[in-house]
Amino acid sequence: MIYSRITGTGGHLPEKVLTNRDLEQMVETSDQWIRERTGIAERHIAAPDETTCDLAEPAARRAMEAAGVGPDDIDLILVATTTPDQVFPSTACLLQQRLDIHGCAAFDIQAVCTGFIYALGVADRFIRTGGARRALVVGAETLSRIVDWTDRGTCVLFGDGAGAVVLEASETPGILSSHLHADGRYEQLLRVPAGVSSHYDRLRAGEAFVQMKGNEVFKVAVNTLGRIVDETLAANALEKGDVDWLIPHQANIRIIQATARKLKLSMERVVVTVDRHGNTSAASVPLALDVAVRDGRVRRGETLLMEAFGGGFTWGSVLLKF
Ligand code: UT7
Repeated sequence: MIYSRITGTGGHLPEKVLTNRDLEQMVETSDQWIRERTGIAERHIAAPDETTCDLAEPAARRAMEAAGVGPDDIDLILVATTTPDQVFPSTACLLQQRLDIHGCAAFDIQAVCTGFIYALGVADRFIRTGGARRALVVGAETLSRIVDWTDRGTCVLFGDGAGAVVLEASETPGILSSHLHADGRYEQLLRVPAGVSSHYDRLRAGEAFVQMKGNEVFKVAVNTLGRIVDETLAANALEKGDVDWLIPHQANIRIIQATARKLKLSMERVVVTVDRHGNTSAASVPLALDVAVRDGRVRRGETLLMEAFGGGFTWGSVLLKF
């Protein structure tokens, strides 16, 4: 039996840090409100000329270095992003060129905050069916470009960054299952209502911004993530106590705490980066994983549950042996 296994992780954050105090100068908000309602203290913001691919490249290089692989070893590149550098070529193709990799399949996956979970699920299927041996899977975003910096309901939440993994074919168990879902009925609750083919005038005017009915999204997110925990454990005949680490999408500490309670997991077993990174959309799960691998918390052989929820709505999970 062939499994796909994570053999290296990497992350990268832009240099500029935007604190809650900085945001107090920009909109009517307070450090206390942001910390209490979201758990966020600061986030990183890309420089004006820094693109999603600029963030993805160092994250990818670090993951490849950790896995001990070079450009010739990679035979699939997936980039999960909602904020691609260009309409086309895909950010995956731009990244491929930067890494001096040529010829292998490379494409973007757009599932907003669930993007990395989707990309990992797709790469796992490629590897298990023999379509690839060694995939580079990246989540990278410059969400700051589509945030309305005058809307206090959204601008305090998001940040920029990139995370990456190398996923390899292996006889040792790695990914045990992945569960991907979407329901387009909820479009109105979380969206950027502009693009290349609709309301492109807003795009041209630089007015294509995230719109969110935060409170309603919150409730659906908590319920849906609770259900995906049940679905993932049942698919693997696992009990709640069998998971060593929860690596959740980092949107709001209260959503993360609710999922941890559902798993009967103490917060010491949950990787939390939302305080320092904010919500980096598709980058949040691989960034959190990389932090916990590099600081020695997550160790080989442990059971990890990753989950995410985002615009679409999309949601999903990956259960794996690290
Ligand atoms: O990653 C994709 C999925 N996204 C999410 O999961 C986000 C889900 N939603 C959330 O995390 C939360 O709903 C928010 C953090 C966005 C908002 O927290 P909330 O507790 O749901 O607040 P709320 O929207 O119900 O607003 C409560 C109050 C309102 O004032 P009134 O009407 O009670 O007077 C807001 O106007 O808080 C006010 N408010 C703020 N006050 C200070 C909203 N944003 C701010 C702010 N600073 N930044």
